[in-house]
Amino acid sequence: MIPLPSPILTATMTSDFLKPYQDRIESKLHDLFSRTSPAAELKEAMAYASLGGGKRLRASLVYLGCEALSLDLSAGDSAAVAVELIHAYSLIHDDLPAMDDDALRRGQPSTHIKFGEATAILAGDALQTLAFETLAEDEDLPEGIRIELITELARSAGHQGMAGGQALDMAAEEQSLSSEALIQIHQLKTGALIEFAASSAAVIDDQPLRIRRPMAEFGRSIGLAFQVQDDILDEVSSTEILGKIQGSDRTQQKSTFVSLHGLEGAQQQLDQRLENATQSLVNAGLNTTNLLALIAFVGNRKY
Ligand code: IPE
Ligand code: IPE
Ligand code: MG
Ligand code: MG
Ligand code: MG
Repeated sequence: MIPLPSPILTATMTSDFLKPYQDRIESKLHDLFSRTSPAAELKEAMAYASLGGGKRLRASLVYLGCEALSLDLSAGDSAAVAVELIHAYSLIHDDLPAMDDDALRRGQPSTHIKFGEATAILAGDALQTLAFETLAEDEDLPEGIRIELITELARSAGHQGMAGGQALDMAAEEQSLSSEALIQIHQLKTGALIEFAASSAAVIDDQPLRIRRPMAEFGRSIGLAFQVQDDILDEVSSTEILGKIQGSDRTQQKSTFVSLHGLEGAQQQLDQRLENATQSLVNAGLNTTNLLALIAFVGNRKY
């Protein structure tokens, strides 16, 4: 596997309005990995999987939520870092030979290709615990809020969320699923973490349910839309633009929105979720320019 030159990827990577949030999370993650560790190679693998190349959608959602609620962005730092660490861990494990068996990620060799499987598995484990450590140690947040964020993140990453969805995704290979079953997989494996990110500012600001609920609904719609677009791009994009191997879902005989509904059907489902997401923002009175731009970004992204 020859790694793709990352400039091709980075040239198309940023969407202007996301840049401040992407820069902010990049810098927070750099700080985190500049600390020393007794296990240097493990830490190197953790940093490799976490830094450089991601779109930072989840961190940006945390920050955009803060902005919409007129909170200082610093209030969202620990949640933004935590959700990106869990996401990076999920990508390492998702690419392992026992799972999707993908050798390319963000235009570079996947973590297990670069560091070996044992280190990659451990890097995923350690990124997961580091996420919770980061939230627990954020002394700028009241303890009750920290506990709530930790609880919500644990739920959205565990068997009721991302890991559960990944289990169902693996079991669904070579199967023909109902539309409802596929929606559940996508909501769990991808939607849950995105919903956490989208609603975390409301938790940090201790907002009432009338704000929390539509923010969570917004996250649920955006989360599902994001994975539907991921399925579409796997079919129609190129390895060079994606930074991951195009056609991997077909090779693995995955159950996707494209395999179940065809390209046009998947696009319709995507459009419907984006409309729902917009409606939820309007309901919460949080239809800010940047949150609306994010909805458009999820629908138009090419990688
Ligand atoms: C890829 O997520 C895996 C899915 C859940 C679809 P992203 O497309 O957000 O990956 P990066 O972080 O930008 O590389
Ligand atoms: C991954 O879905 C969801 C995760 C929890 C990582 P995919 O398997 O479709 O993600 P990519 O296409 O490999 O990024
Ligand atoms: Mg997968
Ligand atoms: Mg995959
Ligand atoms: Mg995919």
